[in-house]
Amino acid sequence: MKISVIGTGYVGLVTGTCFAEAGNDVTLVDIIQEKVDKINRGVTPIYEEGLEDMLKSNLERKRLRATLDIREAILGSEVTFISVGTPSKEDGSIDLKYIEQAARDIGAVLKDKEGYHVVVVKSTVVPGTTEDVVTPAIEEASGKKAGEGFGVCMNPEFLKEGKAVEDFMKPDRIVIGQLDERSGDVINRLYGSFNAPIIRTTTRTAEMIKYAANAFLAAKIGMINEIGNLCKRLGIDTNEVANGIGHDTRIGHQFLRSGIGFGGSCFPKDVKALIAKSRETGYEPVILDHIIKMNEMQPLQIFELLKRKMPQLSGKTIAVLGLAFKADTDDIRESPALKIVDALLKEGAGIRAYDPKAMDSFRKEFPGITYCGSAAEAISGSDACLILTDWKEFDFSDKDFESMSNKLILEGRKILKKEKVPLVEGVCW
Ligand code: UDX
Repeated sequence: MKISVIGTGYVGLVTGTCFAEAGNDVTLVDIIQEKVDKINRGVTPIYEEGLEDMLKSNLERKRLRATLDIREAILGSEVTFISVGTPSKEDGSIDLKYIEQAARDIGAVLKDKEGYHVVVVKSTVVPGTTEDVVTPAIEEASGKKAGEGFGVCMNPEFLKEGKAVEDFMKPDRIVIGQLDERSGDVINRLYGSFNAPIIRTTTRTAEMIKYAANAFLAAKIGMINEIGNLCKRLGIDTNEVANGIGHDTRIGHQFLRSGIGFGGSCFPKDVKALIAKSRETGYEPVILDHIIKMNEMQPLQIFELLKRKMPQLSGKTIAVLGLAFKADTDDIRESPALKIVDALLKEGAGIRAYDPKAMDSFRKEFPGITYCGSAAEAISGSDACLILTDWKEFDFSDKDFESMSNKLILEGRKILKKEKVPLVEGVCW
């Protein structure tokens, strides 16, 4: 199929590249020349496992290209995905201005396009957006009616950063929200080669499925962290408890890793957007609100643990290993490390930080701390070491900490093994 993708951010780039890999002809559209040039040179603006190789091979096969020209891209395709950004407003609700603009731009081209065209919302948008915002904007700009001149679908993504290519190519389900049957059939065909259950539903339901999935997962993390904070105070290892409850198939083993809370671009933002949407309907959310409150205090658990062990932090040197919100990414959005470093600096501690991928972005937020070329360099001479991201390379043994001035090792994500580093203590274990 011939596909165009509007917006080459994280989701758009992965979606477009993976659809090309599946044999489709894909045109990526962006308004930033530099991004378009980079992509056409086979360079991904973000780090994502396997993405750059896949991008390069599909550029070579001429199944993928990037352009600034939205008109050419839409006229030359049958399906257009909208994957532009949805930033948060002050109150946590999402700002739909880029979505609306994309819908109007698409509509303006569809005005001159013959034949049926399917527009698919891929960006995460609150329930009702595709039907009440996107569709009317396309109708107005195109002078055509949805379901006649063009069709509209909502197809949420469930991509984990770092594993986005794998999640796209081997999805556990595909959700197709359709405004009209015909457009749903087209998208169903597009996903024909992906071996996964397909759920066909309304656009509103598809939008809600995405939020509900993230809210549930965020709640699961919040719940295990609450149990974890309690376990810590009772001298119990939460990981053993997680294993014990995970065997109950109704609970399951996944997403039971306690620690310093969830970060990233999705969970915090999506739960806040759902809270704002909920309030708009007049329903005051109880649990959703507490998921956020719980998660905002969770990073500080490790700071407080450190303070209990080392009440006087002023003048001390703390090695901070791991700045990204999770391993295998350079993303620091909502990373617990931001809050923890801030708290340490306020106490007058000196920081020697290291992360395999996220130091450049962290430096923009905290230019004044010391960034080290390796974990060993950060650890050397430090009074305490905090491990904040579960990078595999942090799976150290005791001798790796020998250069510390004082061997206080605390971890916010479970990565060290007690048998290899007997002294380590975790935030919830
Ligand atoms: C998430 C969802 O998993 C994905 O389906 C959705 O489309 C986007 O949001 P992502 O944010 O990339 O993906 O990362 P994920 O691996 O889910 O982790 C999110 C955060 O939760 C990380 O900070 C991670 O460290 C934390 N986490 C995850 C825990 O604290 N405990 C867990 O058990 C799992």
